[in-house]
This record gives sequence, structure tokens and C-alpha cells, in this order.
Amino acid sequence: MKFLGPISLILCAFISVNCVEALNILGIFPHAGKSHFFVFGKYLRELAARGHNVTVVSYFPLDKPIKNYYDISLAGKTKIVGGVFPFKRSYWSIIQVSWYLVTSGTESCSLLLSDKNVQTLWKDNSHFDVMVTEQFNSDCSLGLAYKLGLPVVGINSHVVVPWHYSRFGIPYNPSFVTFQFLDGGTKPTFYQRLERTIFNAYFNLLYKYFCQAYDQNTLAKYFNDIPPLEDLAREIKFLLQYSTFTLTGSTLLPANVIEVNGYHVEEAKPLPKDILTFIEESEHGVIYISFGSILKAATTPQDKVEEILAVLSKLPQRVLWKWDEKSLPGNPKNIYLSNWFPQNDILAHPKVLAFYSHCGLLGTTEAIHHGVPVVGMPIFGDQPSNANFIEESGLGVQIQVADLNTENLLKKFKTILDPEFRSKVKSLSKAWRDRPVSAMDSAVFWTEFAARYRNFTFTSPAATVPAYQYYALDILSLFFVIILTFILVTIKVLKSLLSPKKIVKNKTKKQYNRSNTLVTQ
Ligand SMILES: *[C@@H]1O[C@H](CO)[C@@H](O)[C@H](O)[C@H]1NC(C)=O
Ligand SMILES: *[C@@H]1O[C@H](CO)[C@@H](O)[C@H](O)[C@H]1NC(C)=O
Repeated sequence: MKFLGPISLILCAFISVNCVEALNILGIFPHAGKSHFFVFGKYLRELAARGHNVTVVSYFPLDKPIKNYYDISLAGKTKIVGGVFPFKRSYWSIIQVSWYLVTSGTESCSLLLSDKNVQTLWKDNSHFDVMVTEQFNSDCSLGLAYKLGLPVVGINSHVVVPWHYSRFGIPYNPSFVTFQFLDGGTKPTFYQRLERTIFNAYFNLLYKYFCQAYDQNTLAKYFNDIPPLEDLAREIKFLLQYSTFTLTGSTLLPANVIEVNGYHVEEAKPLPKDILTFIEESEHGVIYISFGSILKAATTPQDKVEEILAVLSKLPQRVLWKWDEKSLPGNPKNIYLSNWFPQNDILAHPKVLAFYSHCGLLGTTEAIHHGVPVVGMPIFGDQPSNANFIEESGLGVQIQVADLNTENLLKKFKTILDPEFRSKVKSLSKAWRDRPVSAMDSAVFWTEFAARYRNFTFTSPAATVPAYQYYALDILSLFFVIILTFILVTIKVLKSLLSPKKIVKNKTKKQYNRSNTLVTQ
């Protein structure tokens, strides 16, 4: 490290943040998901702000350039995620999500490697110290990191996806580990455990034999020596995971999986005047409704909308509703519609008492940050598991689309609008924010650590142990064989000792003998 000598070392002891050597950081984000990059962008800009030289390959280049931040833009190469999803839940919609994951993942790999500017990274032999890359539906970037000889820091904007448990050695047990795409949380029923066991196997096989195999082939078109991607995945130094136990529960995570949920939440900014007036003039506070950007009014069944409206008409609160149409049936006066709201700034307002949400992790995180109780209505993707985090942490309650009627929904709102519930959520929010190190400092620290000690890897041994040993199948089989042998031998012995047939046979023999003797006598 190039320090100015002892003086700077002493200074460093006091202001450690400024003393880290500037790193050349390569960020590879080939997934075109806007809400994902919303999280990563903040972290990457922070790395640049702290003096690192950051080069970012993504679909979301900066609007205005900032110091130390260089974009390699993929923008325009593919559609930004935002398809229309049906407003209902079924196994079929999970299958649809799985195919979306496969197709968008493999496409992102092809588009990444065929980009001329990306190719200069390996053709020019660019020098970097560390790669940060999204851990989602493609491992393509790991091949690139291998080629460039870089240690990798993985980052995500959700909790761990089913196909990543094994690479980090995170125990997946359907009996108590929440499954992203399904209900049941940490206390599933027998049926829910069966359901998630089947879907877990499905997602893992799909990932291995379609996504990863396809990406491996795509990489092979450019390089001839890329090791199996799953092996490279086990070499990832750290995973910066967008969870925190105060919200997402106390799960079993190896030491190199770092929980950093919360850093995307910005300081609240002043609200636009008309929204502010609407909120401040409310006598009984405000309910904020948003089902995210992917659910559209057009795909929401009319009867469900009417149930929701019936509930809102029974509550004294005013309502801000993010809706992509100009009006609602009956044009209720207490509802303010808009297709866009400054969500974080709204949730920060003390008069906003409840959030009716589809349970995206970012909105959920903003709700816990500001201590706003949530009625969660999960629809697709990781929303079911987020809804369980909401319910199990005490941040709110959940309702299933299938159960959505006036009576049920009203009950849910009454629960979370209760002042006692609200005060518990406020204290949960305080606990969630109370940490030894901020989420951002932690994310930056472990990124720098990975570059500083690139020769060390802290993968959990659970990631590399063969499956038959992980589940101790060999030991169990041995015991099974011993016990089975014991039982069989015992049965055999008992049989030979007690067999009534033999006794009968012996008897008849004897009788025969006796009669024989008798005869001979
Ligand atoms: C910073 O990154 C840019 C873009 O990758 C590169 O052109 C530049 O040389 C780097 N600066 C330093 C000091 O390494
Ligand atoms: C890491 O290992 C390489 C190869 O063994 C060695 O040349 C290098 O000095 C090591 N780096 C550090 C920081 O120890």
C-alpha cells in the first residue's frame, strides 16, 4: 500500500475508511432487471465515491457522469424486464417464472459476451483487482472472472435463490427454510413441504441442465478452458445478500454470506405539494397502495378491485393508490390515484399508517425502514417468501389473492391499523436499523477485503462435500445394513429354535422311530 509513512498510518487508525488503497473494480451486471440494479447501482456509486475506480457493465448507464465511475452500457440490447404477469397464483405461474429465468439468463450471457466493448476487457488484458457480479440467473460472468484472473464478490437484491444454496453451502431444508416461490414460511405443513421439495428439485435441475449448461456452451465459443461454472461458483469469495435477520429471519448462513439488506433506502426527500397536502389534510391518516410496476390494472380482475374498494370505503383513512389507469369505478373521493409515487418519501411521512403491497423486497425494506405496517398480497416470484418474512417478523400480515374478499381484507387492515400493532412495528423498525456497521459499510468492506486477501477463500465445506456425505448416506446405509443383518440373523435363529414345524417333524420322527422300534420289538 502506498501510504505517506507513519503519519498516515496513525491517521488511518482514526479514519479507516479513507485509508484503503483505491481498487480497480469491475462490475458485471448482465441481467436487465431494473429493480435489481436499483440496489446494485447505489452500491457501485458508493464504491466510486469512496475513491475506487469502478467500471460497470450493465443495462443501466448513469444519466450524469460521476467521478471514478465508467459505464460499459448494454442498453438497448434487450427488453428491460417488465412483462405483464397475471393477477393470480398457480403452479403454472411458477413454471412461467422458471422459463423466464432460463431464457433471460441464457440470453443475457450471449449478449454480454458478444458485446464489442466487453470483449476489449479480455482482449486488452485490462487490469482489475476484483469483480462484483449479480448472483441470479446466469453464471456467465464467472467465466469472464476466471479469464481475467479476478476474485469474485457476488451480490443480489433478494434472498438466496433455490439453485444457490449448494454453491455457498447454505443448508436447504424444506422443513424450516422458507422457499421463495411458495407459502409456508418457516412452519410449512406436510403438503407445503412436499410442494417445495418438488419445486426445489425442479429449479435446481432446470438451472443445472439448462441455464448453466447453456452458459457453459456460450462461454466455450469464446474461451476454450473455462472450468465447470458450478466449480467457479464455489470459489466466490463473498455473497452480499439483500437480507437481514431482523426482517428475513434467523437463518443458517456461512460466514462468507454477508447480510446487507437496507442500503438502497434513501433519505426521505420533501413530497410534491399536492401529495403532501393530501396526506397532511387527512384526519385519520393515509393508506398507501402499490402492487409494483409489473402488475397492471388491465390484468387485475374487476371483482377484486371492487372488493378492495368496498374495504377502503369502510375505513376512515385517505388512500394513495399507485394505479396505471386514470380512474376507479365510482371515483371515490378519498382515493388519490397516480401511476407513479415517490414511495420512499411517502412511507417516511408519519401520517402514512399502512402499506398494502405486493411484497417486493425493496418496498418491504422501505416499509420496515420507516416502520409502516404492511398488508402483503404476494403474486409471483419471491413475493410469497417476502410475505412470510413480513408476517413472521411482525411487520404486517398477509392475504392471498384467492382469499381476497371484503370481510377478510377488512380484518387484515383492522389488525395493522391498531395502534398497538403499529407501535410494535415502530420498535421492530428501530431494531432493524440498529446495527454495529451500516449495511453499505459492510458491503464495501467485504468487497475490499476480497481484493486485499484474494488468495483466501472462505467457502463453507458444506459446499464441496459430496451429497452422499453431506446427508451421511454412507453412514446411514452402513447402519441400515448392520441393523438389517442383525434382524435377519435374529429371525433365522429364532425360527430354527422355535419353528413349530420342526418340533412337529421331530415328534413324528420320534413317533415313527418309536413305532419303528415298536415294530421291530
Ligand atoms: C479506471 O477505469 C477506467 C475504465 O475501465 C480505465 O480506463 C482507467 O485507466 C482506470 N483508472 C485507473 C487509475 O486505473
Ligand atoms: C497470492 O498467491 C500468489 C501465487 O501463489 C502470490 O504470487 C501472491 O504474492 C499472493 N498474494 C498475496 C497478497 O499474498
